[in-house]
Amino acid sequence: MRLRRATEADCVDLWRWRNDPVTRAMSRTSDEVDLAAHTAWFRGALLNPSITLLIGETDDGKVGMVRFDHRDETEVSINLNPAFRGQGLSMALLGQALESVAGAVFAEIKDENAASRRLFERAGFRRIGGGQGLGRYRRG
Ligand SMILES: CC(C)(COP(=O)(O)OP(=O)(O)OC[C@H]1O[C@@H](n2cnc3c(N)ncnc32)[C@H](O)[C@@H]1OP(=O)(O)O)[C@@H](O)C(=O)NCCC(=O)NCCS
Repeated sequence: MRLRRATEADCVDLWRWRNDPVTRAMSRTSDEVDLAAHTAWFRGALLNPSITLLIGETDDGKVGMVRFDHRDETEVSINLNPAFRGQGLSMALLGQALESVAGAVFAEIKDENAASRRLFERAGFRRIGGGQGLGRYRRG
C-alpha cells in the first residue's frame, strides 16, 4: 500500500466512492451528493490546511481514502473504493495513514458498521461514548 496526498485528479473517484450506497448508509449524512457540489467541496478541502486527504494505492489501483479533520482533536474517517472492500486492505491503509498523525485521534462510527468498528478497534481505538446508533472512538 502506497499513500499520497489527494490531488484534483482524484475528484471523481472520491465522488463515486462517497455516493456508494454502503458509504452513504454508514455516513452521518446519507444524502447523495451531486458532482458540482462535491467538486466545490473537494477543491476547498485540497486548499484547507485543517483537512488532510490521503489516497492509498496498490499496483491494482486506488484502494481508498483516509481523511483527517484537524480541529481541537483530529477526526479520522476512511472510505474504501467499493471494488476493494472485504479483502482485508483497510487496516494497511488506516494504519499507514495514522502514522502521519501525532496525538489523539477520534472517529465516529455507526453501531451497525461492524467492519469499521472491528477495523478501528484493531487500530487501537476504544469506544469512549456515543448514543443514538453512533459511537465515538478514540486512540491516544
Ligand atoms: C469500513 C471499511 C473501511 C472496512 O474495509 P473493508 O475492506 O470492508 O474491511 P476489511 O476486509 O479490511 O475487514 C476489516 C475487519 O472487519 C471485519 N469485517 C468485515 N466485514 C465485516 C462484517 N460485515 N461484520 C463483522 N466484521 C466484518 C473483517 O473480518 C476484518 O477484521 P479482522 O481483521 O479481524 O479479520 C469499508 O467497508 C468502507 O469503506 N465502508 C464504507 C465507508 C465506511 O463505513 N467508513 C467508516 C466510517 S468511520
